[in-house]
Amino acid sequence: MSAPILNAPVPVLEVDRLTAGYVPGLPIVRGASLRVAAGEVLTVIGPNGSGKSTLLKAIMGLVGIASGSVRFAGREIAGRPTHEIVLAGIGFVPQTANLFATLSIEDNLRAGGHVLRSELGEHLDRAYAMFPALADKRRDKARTLSGGQRQMLAIARALMTDPRLLILDEPTAGLAPQVVGEVFGQLKSLAGSGVAVLMVEQNAKAALRQSDRGLVLVEGCNRIEGVASALLEDEEVIAAFLGRGERRGKAASAEVLSP
Ligand SMILES: Nc1ncnc2c1ncn2[C@@H]1O[C@H](COP(=O)(O)OP(=O)(O)O)[C@@H](O)[C@H]1O
Ligand SMILES: [Mg+2]
Repeated sequence: MSAPILNAPVPVLEVDRLTAGYVPGLPIVRGASLRVAAGEVLTVIGPNGSGKSTLLKAIMGLVGIASGSVRFAGREIAGRPTHEIVLAGIGFVPQTANLFATLSIEDNLRAGGHVLRSELGEHLDRAYAMFPALADKRRDKARTLSGGQRQMLAIARALMTDPRLLILDEPTAGLAPQVVGEVFGQLKSLAGSGVAVLMVEQNAKAALRQSDRGLVLVEGCNRIEGVASALLEDEEVIAAFLGRGERRGKAASAEVLSP
């Protein structure tokens, strides 16, 4: 284990030289490392197919790990079954299939909290306090929600177990620009309450603006990492992920270019 750096916050999640993939001998994540502390937002960006989703799935026990370690709250969780990882305190919002469209909003939240032995009502109250739009529609089917509201429900559902770390895969994919800001704002305030947030995003510029640190993953390993404000000024990051002219404040898309 590496020596702790003075004054650095103690990480809740510590991924060290992780190698993982779908087929033995064909790693997709190749030696990736990251750390997230309580109250911190870390955003992972990178080209399509660089292994961002696979990295999140490997942390969650959904993809086979060949080597490396995943330490959560001081315990090794690499290779543990997903339900144990969730119970240990990690909430996961996958990119797709993150809610039950034909169930009501409330039943989706109940499903998220099904492992709770008590205090389900309290957790529901808290979810509705955080997302008032969901409270107004609690009896409606999830499929009747707007894209932004669906993403809020998926987040609220993952928060039902009171995680210390929330992991999200492209939480703003397909959302209108004004809703993108709302989702990032919610995640930032969640971090303000002490939860660690790790997300993968294609809306690189908007995400980095609301993040503490960023990591660029290329071909399954760390390419660039640092404080988010520095990445927003980094020439290579601008050229590949943010588009020219971003620093001068011109309107430009945050489209991710293939290498
Ligand atoms: N279920 C799967 N089975 C086999 N290969 C997969 C699977 N999902 C993704 N891959 C492959 O893993 C690589 C990385 O995919 P992914 O982690 O989804 O990238 P990203 O999220 O960065 O776009 C791609 O080459 C993709 O084809
Ligand atoms: Mg992905």
